[in-house]
Amino acid sequence: MCGIVGYLGPKNPKDVILTGLKSLEYRGYDSAGVSILHEGKFKRVRAEGKLGNLSAKLDGEAFSGHLGIGHTRWATHGKPSERNAHPHCVGGISLVHNGIIENYMELREELVRDGAVLESETDSELVAHLIEREVRAGGDRAAAGNGAAAGVSSALLAAVLRILPRLHGAYAILVVSEREPDTMVAFKNGPPLILGVGPDAMYVGSDVMALVPYTKKVVYLDDGEVVEVKGRSYRVLDHSGATIQKKLVEVNWTADVASKGGFPHFMVKEIFEQPRAVAQAIQPHVNLQKSSVELSGVGFDVDQVLAGIERVFIVACGSSYYTGLVGEYMIERLAKVPVECDIASEFRYRHPVLPKNSLFISISQSGETADTLAAVRMAKQAGAKILSICNVKNSSIDREADGHLYMNAGTEIGVASTKAFSATLALLNLLSLAVAKAKGVLSAEDEAKYVREVLAAPAQIETVLNLDKFFKQAADKLKSYKGFLYLGRGVHYPIAMEGALKLKELAYMHAEGYAAGEMKHGPLALIDDKMAVVTLVPHDDLYEKTLSNLEEAKARGGQIISIGTGESERLEKISQYYLALPEVGWFTLPLLEVVPVQLLAYHVACSLGHDVDQPRNLAKSVTVE
Ligand code: F6R
Repeated sequence: MCGIVGYLGPKNPKDVILTGLKSLEYRGYDSAGVSILHEGKFKRVRAEGKLGNLSAKLDGEAFSGHLGIGHTRWATHGKPSERNAHPHCVGGISLVHNGIIENYMELREELVRDGAVLESETDSELVAHLIEREVRAGGDRAAAGNGAAAGVSSALLAAVLRILPRLHGAYAILVVSEREPDTMVAFKNGPPLILGVGPDAMYVGSDVMALVPYTKKVVYLDDGEVVEVKGRSYRVLDHSGATIQKKLVEVNWTADVASKGGFPHFMVKEIFEQPRAVAQAIQPHVNLQKSSVELSGVGFDVDQVLAGIERVFIVACGSSYYTGLVGEYMIERLAKVPVECDIASEFRYRHPVLPKNSLFISISQSGETADTLAAVRMAKQAGAKILSICNVKNSSIDREADGHLYMNAGTEIGVASTKAFSATLALLNLLSLAVAKAKGVLSAEDEAKYVREVLAAPAQIETVLNLDKFFKQAADKLKSYKGFLYLGRGVHYPIAMEGALKLKELAYMHAEGYAAGEMKHGPLALIDDKMAVVTLVPHDDLYEKTLSNLEEAKARGGQIISIGTGESERLEKISQYYLALPEVGWFTLPLLEVVPVQLLAYHVACSLGHDVDQPRNLAKSVTVE
């Protein structure tokens, strides 16, 4: 969602903030702004649209001060416009916010009654007004000899502590004041917020990415915490103003991720990084000599936990949820343990029953998705063991979990997930084997066979990537269809759904993923000669059945695009386009199938002229409900 950067130090705040915002732009990109001290006052510059518009506006701007804040926005309340862009400035206070203030209407009415003049339609501006009002009231109280709480010398901090009980909802907020040019105050409930501690400067960011070009020493704020930065020092407090001791963490991220490496887009670079992403995901957990699975660095005794589980829950959102569905098939088929895979926003409100000895697996690339985080907390309270599959170490979900499997996919900048998807599938391959092994239902022979299949996957993905030009050449024709149905069965069905999601988010075309056998129960009515039917038809025991489903679609005029394995005369005959993948078994085939559906969406979107790295209305890290 929105990106936040704050800087207090000797450098030019404009450069530091713009560099930080650049690395956060993938989080939200409908408008951006900065507020930087200049001759004792905040100078605010904002622009609608991508960050480039703000950079252009800031080109000839100079700032004399050493304190500034910046923001990239993903609109929640109020349309994307310069007027609604952050920072919000009220009476010498400047504020940026990520999240949603749920009691927005009540606060708005109260502030308007109180004479506040609102400039924007946002919920965030209301918080700036609340703080400004409290700063004024605090000044009056001090004048009357009735000062702030003991130990709180900053008027800004005192005001924040007083208004906190008024805020309901999710927020990460950074606020600064002209009257305290050596102070930043930040606080959170929900979305991430991180303090960066440099040798001669202090930073605040909504993501480590914004801080690592300057410092590797960070403090992760937890919900209910407030940080006050004063000069080169800081302290973390709870809502009552009591000091909390926090760990200073050294992160090992590098700042060189934001390069496209010769590719036209981050997304296609990340698609082509999948062989390496899969290899890096599995490497720590495979014993090459024995061709066996040995999950390592999980953080709890894996063998003991997995042997004792009676039920598995997998919870995630979007593409991550589709990987979870593949995981459900794999674990049930190999380990014979019942698995429920849920969308996090449904799970958290459906009053689920988590029996004793449940393993709860959360899947989240970012580790910040608000619904998944809430589901993790629920499951934890219900007593389940939490195993997080995540790409971002120390992210909010990672910090809540008991055990950890890292995707190790490297930073994913393209908003549409690609390499994190494959890395997760590969981890789920290994996890399903580990559960089966712990349950005593997997022979050493089968284990070695499956492990060898997983080890072979990176090279096979490489082969599939060589078919890139197939959809590049077909894109012009494909973009003329009115809609797409993606079909698959078994482990291939979630990949069909992933293909449809990719096309929706990148090409803005209507697409649906369906279980091939369900076609006759309704969707068949959609088929005519303007409808593309993209079908995953591997040579497996359901091949004939899926082929019959395709014949039914073909008979009604559907334009068949099939993705199968090896030679298939019959498939080629009924298909407009037929793409042959290497002949591999069900266990790792999803890792290969996802590549062409990513490339199809990518090339169609490019031929439509869309911004594939930052599709409209989307954000990389979804930290609101
Ligand atoms: C789609 C996509 C999203 C994410 C979803 C969950 O291409 O990227 O659907 O998969 O927002 O995000 P994480 O995995 O960060 O929880």
